[in-house]
Amino acid sequence: MHKPHIPLDELRAQVEQCHRCPLAEGRTQTVFGDGNPSARILIVGEAPGKNEDLKGVPFVGAAGHKLDALLEIAGLAREDVFIANVLKCRPPGNRDPRPEEIEVCTPFLREQTRTIDPEFIVTLGNFATKFILKTDRGITHLRGRLQHAGKFKVFPIYHPAAAIYDHSKQEALEDDFATLGELVRQSDAEKAAAAEAAREEAFACAGQGKPHTGEQEAAGTQPTLLDQQLTLDDEAASAGEQQGLSTDGESTAAQDAANQPSDQGREQA
Ligand code: URA
Repeated sequence: MHKPHIPLDELRAQVEQCHRCPLAEGRTQTVFGDGNPSARILIVGEAPGKNEDLKGVPFVGAAGHKLDALLEIAGLAREDVFIANVLKCRPPGNRDPRPEEIEVCTPFLREQTRTIDPEFIVTLGNFATKFILKTDRGITHLRGRLQHAGKFKVFPIYHPAAAIYDHSKQEALEDDFATLGELVRQSDAEKAAAAEAAREEAFACAGQGKPHTGEQEAAGTQPTLLDQQLTLDDEAASAGEQQGLSTDGESTAAQDAANQPSDQGREQA
């Protein structure tokens, strides 16, 4: 049995009331996430910083300005994506998230992902990448290479803040956001081609007086092969058996993907 998706407003209210860890005591407000609730691209950062804690919105500080410019390189705007973080509260002094904080906070991210149901998940930096892909491999190895976790296409990229302190990362960030734009456009083209093939098939069947099946008719909107192979197992996820997004049947696929990154993203770059 698949459990129903929780509406984002309801999840937001749960996050606002959360006291699962001591970060709740130090926050000005929670940072649930922001953007298009039915976005095709979910961007996952690390945790709110000072400005985000004050405004309650992710990526509004210096890293946010960088992110806006990088999204533009991909041909995207904030309205096209949903932006969330691994942690919903600011760690003091912007220290790294702790494992116990990640453990108690990430059920919110998991539910956000199920509700938004994006095609792409862009993970920014090590914390988001390691959580989503359930991998110990670092972002330096994984960045710019398309991965899969369950039915999701996962594209790890350096955290934009990395380029503020290390200018050598700027070029890699720009390259990877350009590749992201290409991946999205390529997926559009594939969907359009599948829909066109289905229309032609239906037309040919009608011309020959043959009935055409529902499958042919709806081919453009049918689950892709990837969806069929790697469907998110809601029950296992809700049972909390997994740390990341992948679930038992899929973790091998996701883990394999993490261990043997596909070079698709790079080849297209
Ligand atoms: N860095 C993050 O990872 N998230 C934010 O929301 C802001 C800065």
